[in-house]
Amino acid sequence: MKFSKFFFGTDYYPEHWPEERWSEDAKLMKAAGFNIVRLAEFAWAKIETREGHFNFDWLDRAIDILAELDIQIVLGTPTASPPPWLMAKDGELFIVKENGVRLGYGNRREYCPNHPLYHQHTERIVTQMAERYKDHPAVIGWQIDNEFGARCFCDICRGEFHKWLQTRYANLDEVNEKWGTIFWGHVYGEWSQIPVPVQLGYHPMDSSPNPGLALDYFRFMSDVYVTYQDLQMNILREKCPKHFITHNFMGFKYKNLNYFDLAKNLDFVSWDNYARMQWTMDADVDPSNAALNHDAMRGLKKQNFWVMEQQSGPGGWEHVAAATKPGELRLWAYQGIAHGADGIIFFRWRTCRFGTEQYWHGVLNHHGIPGRRYEEIARMGAEISLIGEQINGAVMKPAVAIMQSYDARFAFQIQQVNPKLHYEQQIGDIYKAFHTQNIGVDIVSEKDRLSGYKLVIVPLMYVLSEETITNLERFAEKGGMVVLTGLTGVKNLHNAVVNMKLPGLAAKMSGIEVEEYLSLPEYEENEIKFSHVTLDGNYPVPIWADVLSLQQGQPIGHYSKDFIADQPAASLNEFGKGKVLYLGALGNYEYYKDIAQWLVNLAGIESPIAAPDGVEVTVRWKGNRRLLFILNHTQQEHNIHLENSYSNVLNGEIIHETVGIPPFGVLILSD
Ligand code: GAL
Repeated sequence: MKFSKFFFGTDYYPEHWPEERWSEDAKLMKAAGFNIVRLAEFAWAKIETREGHFNFDWLDRAIDILAELDIQIVLGTPTASPPPWLMAKDGELFIVKENGVRLGYGNRREYCPNHPLYHQHTERIVTQMAERYKDHPAVIGWQIDNEFGARCFCDICRGEFHKWLQTRYANLDEVNEKWGTIFWGHVYGEWSQIPVPVQLGYHPMDSSPNPGLALDYFRFMSDVYVTYQDLQMNILREKCPKHFITHNFMGFKYKNLNYFDLAKNLDFVSWDNYARMQWTMDADVDPSNAALNHDAMRGLKKQNFWVMEQQSGPGGWEHVAAATKPGELRLWAYQGIAHGADGIIFFRWRTCRFGTEQYWHGVLNHHGIPGRRYEEIARMGAEISLIGEQINGAVMKPAVAIMQSYDARFAFQIQQVNPKLHYEQQIGDIYKAFHTQNIGVDIVSEKDRLSGYKLVIVPLMYVLSEETITNLERFAEKGGMVVLTGLTGVKNLHNAVVNMKLPGLAAKMSGIEVEEYLSLPEYEENEIKFSHVTLDGNYPVPIWADVLSLQQGQPIGHYSKDFIADQPAASLNEFGKGKVLYLGALGNYEYYKDIAQWLVNLAGIESPIAAPDGVEVTVRWKGNRRLLFILNHTQQEHNIHLENSYSNVLNGEIIHETVGIPPFGVLILSD
């Protein structure tokens, strides 16, 4: 979706403040360069005070005050936080958690997403809001709910799960066969006998559910939220055809819903970016975390995105997180833009004096008087009003893709395989290996077209389908380079181990078979020694070691310890016009970094300009115009040496050879 302008704004809760203050807020927002405000996503109780009694007057007035200053509005549907009168209607409206405990009232996201009564109430509030604001000139779009997530395990969900299964399996015999229910004699004779994977085992060890059932339950619950989102979206599409619809996602780390599916019907993805969370008390923010989140969110629809909640101060619920240092808020917001954001909305406007989030700091402090954070964000607002047009809609064109799989992520939550193994950490380390070299990366799904890339990394493709392997083989055949890792092709789509030598379906393209695998315990590590001309060195293997037997290709690394010493750990195979690297050993960032450096050279990929450590560089293209974003994440000033002259987009100056970048500074250059 293309936007008419770059959006820059804040998340605002007028209902938390006396009405006399609203005009002052609007003026300060305007002066900060804000052109958009998100409203109302937790305001159901204030809009529908009793069942069927609606009060929109306050919201009308708040919107009008903002609209008068040309500030546009995105409205949240308020379903993430239902009013107490609604939840008092039926105890079964409350979600049942994975441990079997039903939630009560007092937080948010406590509703069962399948409850028919909740659907009825959802339809009513969404219809009312849509009717009210469909023609309001300042309202331009909707955010559905807020951060979908919580999985429910109640009886209603169980009934829906049975229906879901019936649409996917021909009959119960097929379910029994695919899940292998003969194990422990769980052969189901009626659909209604199928349980949900709630942790009801007597002993923690007994809580592991059937992996096939548990994977289907993940997929089912993910579909439930897609359906619930569609229910709201259908109303909005019909009543407000000119408005956009988005949802605020939670970045790459969130792993309980298939975000590709959730993003599919939305106009664009937005997400909530908190670089320094309240529980991260250390001041060291690793910029590759946010970068991965941005790239993963851009990857959901292969399209630019918004940051719907951009950190505006120290976070805090029970604790107050470390201060955001001067320059950090602006830097982190520009980092989003550097990765493809076309809208940045700061959470939140003013720090609330009460409620759970009274230490989650906004643009303004509790007292409402502009200070350091306001000034910093307003400085950025002034810049955006000058350069927003030049950036808006500019695209990224990375040569490298990392493939992520929600099936694999679900399956690893069911069986972690090794207590030291964390899928998100592995992807994070691999991503960081490219990010620290300033090599742009797309985060893609198994189904995405790969033809535009030079290098596709496919880490831990644990659940592997025929379609995925065909996609990868086609890419490699035509000259692409593919990297596979240990724990590839282990499971079929029903989360059962494949009936072939590993890496199963990936054996053909990689040219290897896994002779055996070692899951490394807490007290033991192995080591890999690379022996390729341009990749050598030893690295620890702390988690997992696939021992390879090569059918084709050449070994490029061997294990050096224990009974697998001297056996192949990594191989390079020619496949069609391309190459396939199989890394049997899983490692850490240093290991992936050196491999990434080697791969980048091999594939002929270059970083846009040379930059010191801690200085991030990305590229966006507006037509043929290249925009270089240079972000100094360190507390030192740096000099950047340039081979050509560039113009400084922020101030129009022409730069030759060298340019200085202050601590936490941002430069935007164009050729
Ligand atoms: C987000 C959420 C916001 C607010 C914020 C700070 O995840 O969407 O409503 O809670 O975190 O805690």
